[in-house]
Amino acid sequence: MILRGKFPVEKFREIETPFYYYDMNLLRDTLDCVREAISRDPNFHVHYAVKANANPDILRTIARAGFGADCVSGGEILAAVKAGFPGSKIVYAGVGKTDREINIGLDNDIFCFNVESVPELEVINELAAAKGKVAAVALRVNPNVGAHTHANITTGLAENKFGIAMTDLDRVIDMARDLKNVRFIGLHFHIGSQILDMTDFTALCNRVNDITARLEQRGVKISDINVGGGLGIDYKHPNHHPIPDFKEYFATYRRHLHLLPGQQLHFELGRAIVGQCGALISRVVFVKEGTKKKFAILDAGMTDLIRPALYEAYHRIENISSEAEDVERYDVVGPVCESSDVFGKAVDMPSTKRGDFIALRSAGAYGEIMASQYNCRQLPLAVLSDNL
Ligand code: LLP
Repeated sequence: MILRGKFPVEKFREIETPFYYYDMNLLRDTLDCVREAISRDPNFHVHYAVKANANPDILRTIARAGFGADCVSGGEILAAVKAGFPGSKIVYAGVGKTDREINIGLDNDIFCFNVESVPELEVINELAAAKGKVAAVALRVNPNVGAHTHANITTGLAENKFGIAMTDLDRVIDMARDLKNVRFIGLHFHIGSQILDMTDFTALCNRVNDITARLEQRGVKISDINVGGGLGIDYKHPNHHPIPDFKEYFATYRRHLHLLPGQQLHFELGRAIVGQCGALISRVVFVKEGTKKKFAILDAGMTDLIRPALYEAYHRIENISSEAEDVERYDVVGPVCESSDVFGKAVDMPSTKRGDFIALRSAGAYGEIMASQYNCRQLPLAVLSDNL
């Protein structure tokens, strides 16, 4: 059942709101498109960024489609392994990996640790030695390339906490190559998230080319390059663009990144894979007439979907049950005791009443996983299209 903007509202009537609704056909179609886009590049490897959505059913679907996983905590590694991702396809990044988490990575024989600092490199070496193992490591380089996206989700600038500064790179590579229980395999980059301008990725490619050419000249062998994730989705028009332009995305790397024979290229896509398949479904609790405007007060709030409050992010808001012909203007808000608990201001919707169903679209990425229990609220449920 491909919905693409049409929701099974009659079936929703039996379900307690709010809940995340996942269109699993759209997820599978999206995964097919990714696979298709790299089908002629056996050296391209996509690791799904688990942080975007760790719902077990979503993870299982992505693992079954043959993708790897990109994790940022021991918990994510455990969730990925449980869902069926083989350790050999797991990469693990993060600036503050604890000993326990590093050991989880070692015990699961993950493909690679993306190392972000010298002390981390030393600890991985020590813990691997204690287990008689050799851990593959890539150094995360801060490429100082800006992505034109929200300040809170850019990561590739020199001022960010992530990665190793370019000026320290040679020294840290030499160190990694000297350590006995780590094996240096390459470099890791990530410039930010929700990037729609392909020239940002081109800029990254150019920077990576410069770095790898210089390192090759120094005799450093790089077998793996990981360019992170960041491909954005169309929040404004989820029905017109339910699947991002993966062809163009991978073509950008094919065109601009100079790979040596045998070099493997890794990607860590999160939002682009799961963003459009999810919607947060809620009911209108009350319609309140303010002095100057009308408020549609939902049973979903910022605890269920924090992106608007945290990043001023836009999510398309639709009344999916009203059959009214006339359109009215509402501020669509949640019930949480915070003024920032607002999903949208001056939203035009068909005349809306108590009990109507409202969909907050494009909420598959960084939605359910970022939910909290603030105000002692319940965590939102998840409903799969396959089960309706
Ligand atoms: N790789 C690394 C090293 C990352 O830090 C991230 C995201 C990704 C991959 C996946 O990025 P994606 O393909 O999903 O753009 N909570 C924010 C987004 C934070 C992204 C953090 N890093 C939001 O709701 O927009």
